[in-house]
Amino acid sequence: MRVSGAKNAVLKMMAAALMTSGRCVIRHVPVIRDVDTMIALMRWLGAGVSWDAQGNLCIDASGVDGVEAPEQLVRRMRASVLVMGPLLARFGRVRVALPGGCAIGPRPIELHLRGLRQLGATITEERGFVEARARRLLGAEIHLDYPSVGATENLMMAACLAQGTTVIRNPAREPEIADLQLFLNKMGARVRGAGTDAIYIQGVDGLAGAVHEPIPDRIEAGTFMVAAALTRGDVVLQNVIPAHVEAVAAKLREVGAAVEEAGPGALRVRADQRPRPVYLRTQPYPGFPTDMQPQFMALLSVAAGASIISETVYTSRMKHADELRRMGADIVVDGQVAIVRGVRRLTGALVEASDLRAGAALILAGLSAEGETVVEGLHHVDRGYEAIEAKLQQLGAAVRRLAEDVPVADGRPLVRA
Ligand code: UD1
Repeated sequence: MRVSGAKNAVLKMMAAALMTSGRCVIRHVPVIRDVDTMIALMRWLGAGVSWDAQGNLCIDASGVDGVEAPEQLVRRMRASVLVMGPLLARFGRVRVALPGGCAIGPRPIELHLRGLRQLGATITEERGFVEARARRLLGAEIHLDYPSVGATENLMMAACLAQGTTVIRNPAREPEIADLQLFLNKMGARVRGAGTDAIYIQGVDGLAGAVHEPIPDRIEAGTFMVAAALTRGDVVLQNVIPAHVEAVAAKLREVGAAVEEAGPGALRVRADQRPRPVYLRTQPYPGFPTDMQPQFMALLSVAAGASIISETVYTSRMKHADELRRMGADIVVDGQVAIVRGVRRLTGALVEASDLRAGAALILAGLSAEGETVVEGLHHVDRGYEAIEAKLQQLGAAVRRLAEDVPVADGRPLVRA
């Protein structure tokens, strides 16, 4: 199975492309709803965005004249707030609807705002919008209280066009940020340190267009790695950077699966026994990713013993436990901790995805369960997985998208035959 380009890298590169009137090309962009939402936002701002025949996304932001991200788009996708730094830096003004809460907990943006203030912006909040202004941003020393991925990226992009040097300490170290740094530098920015404990940005007067191929999606890769372990299968994934999935690979080895490199950019995952129980704690990169926690909960639901999952990144990212319980899992949740007592087998049920990764976890659970599972709320899954059913079918899964839609919000359920 070939892994697609990383959603969480592509979305930020699209935002970065707003900082230039030159043409940017992002290669092999996954066809997912979050990318569609970002395209809608970019067009709303006045950018020209088109796909070419190879699946590359071409962006021309020379005609951008809007500086406002409207509520309906920010609501649909929180990553919309990532246009803030770029628009503020280029136009001196930006207005973005406040993202509010989401299914996995409140997700404030005060770290983004505090950092922008340190770069010299004046920030006002009114009627659900936040507005930032600055004639020209000024480089600053910024210490993040928490290594927020979005805040690191927003500030890093804004600082590219600031006057002078910016240092971001305690930044997030996710690989997507290093990839964004690469893209920005191709545009003519002067950024170094992404992936370490400090990022240095020397401001420049202008940026040019660039062509870039984003890194593979480590969460999509991880999801399919868990699928292999859960179904006791044998899967080879192409287009993987093994170092980026090391935390997931290490946990999979601990549960008893074999994970090994299978040539350049390829990873083979096999399992032939019930998973062993483990202790799992989510953390910022390079710790175990929160975006893989639901899939691991599905896996540990059938482990030979009791596991503990501690979710430290989000306050309420355990809703999938209720749905897994409907499939026969034995899970007790207390706040951000879950105790998962493995059962021998899950049974098929009608379940609902509450968010993107929860949806993926339920599909994986359905693949290993006895009988048929119907997953509702597929629109969540389609936000971040390109053709998930086709990729699973290719690996032998009995899964299909229901044409005869059970009425759910605006997504279609998946069924295991
Ligand atoms: C990004 C990813 C998301 C992933 C997350 C953590 C994208 C588009 N999304 O989201 O898939 O789950 O990283 O790996 O790249 N926080 C604050 N104040 C802030 C900012 C964040 O309290 O100003 C909190 C959030 O509420 C959350 C935690 O910090 O509990 C992590 O958030 P952050 O790292 O910012 O994640 P995102 O960039 O939103």
